[in-house]
Amino acid sequence: MTERGYIPNLYGRRLDKPLRARPARLMSDLLPRVAAPDPETGPVDPAALFPDANEIWFEVGFGGGEHLAWQAQENPSVGFIGAEPFVNGVAKLLSKIDETGLQNIRIHFGDARPLLEALPDGSLTKLFVLHPDPWPKKRHHKRRMISPWFFAEAGRLLAPGGELRVASDIPDYIRWTLMHARNAPAFDWTAERAADWKTRPADWPETRYEAKATREGRAAAYLIFRRRADAADRNVT
Ligand SMILES: C[S@@+](CC[C@H](N)C(=O)[O-])C[C@H]1O[C@@H](n2cnc3c(N)ncnc32)[C@H](O)[C@@H]1O
Repeated sequence: MTERGYIPNLYGRRLDKPLRARPARLMSDLLPRVAAPDPETGPVDPAALFPDANEIWFEVGFGGGEHLAWQAQENPSVGFIGAEPFVNGVAKLLSKIDETGLQNIRIHFGDARPLLEALPDGSLTKLFVLHPDPWPKKRHHKRRMISPWFFAEAGRLLAPGGELRVASDIPDYIRWTLMHARNAPAFDWTAERAADWKTRPADWPETRYEAKATREGRAAAYLIFRRRADAADRNVT
């Protein structure tokens, strides 16, 4: 753990199998053109990345990019930033960008957390964490993306009324997320009845991990937390 409040650079995996020629070319030619600025070089201004966008949405760990590309297509006036350290996933999203000509996505190939920390307060209106790595062993829980650090950072980044969306098909991770949400005064859980979190909203496409979980008999929870308007000085870690 660092003074930043999270363990840096710990991922499930960065490379599955060597890239074939086309994905390798997309990584070398297209990625530099759609890459988000390196957060290690200083604060990142998302308005400068998307001068015409009404809003900025961020997806942490986009996997193969199915959800991110769908949202970007459906919401052309929104600027999207996606972070993913898994090279095969980044190459998949690049392939979708190449095929569709989507102009409103910037990719951070790496850990989402330094980039989140480099963004200004209130700069996002939606933040997605879909099927984060569960790190099931108790001694690895501190590696989980959802954490007090994450809720504090989400509270800082989301404008009042903004949404944090978390999906998981792992009951322990769902409980874990709700427990941390209860301790995060900047957020209200929007669900009023079980159907609200058991049913995938129409503006929330299925991800690859969700499809796999469904095939294996695990149902997902769709958790939506709203950034409170009155929580500016109540956000605690
Ligand atoms: C279980 S997969 C889910 C992928 C995708 N969201 C989906 O639902 O299909 C978790 C993803 O989070 C990514 N990940 C893990 N640690 C991360 C980090 N620190 N920053 C960004 N992404 C991360 C992994 O590489 C992996 O692609």
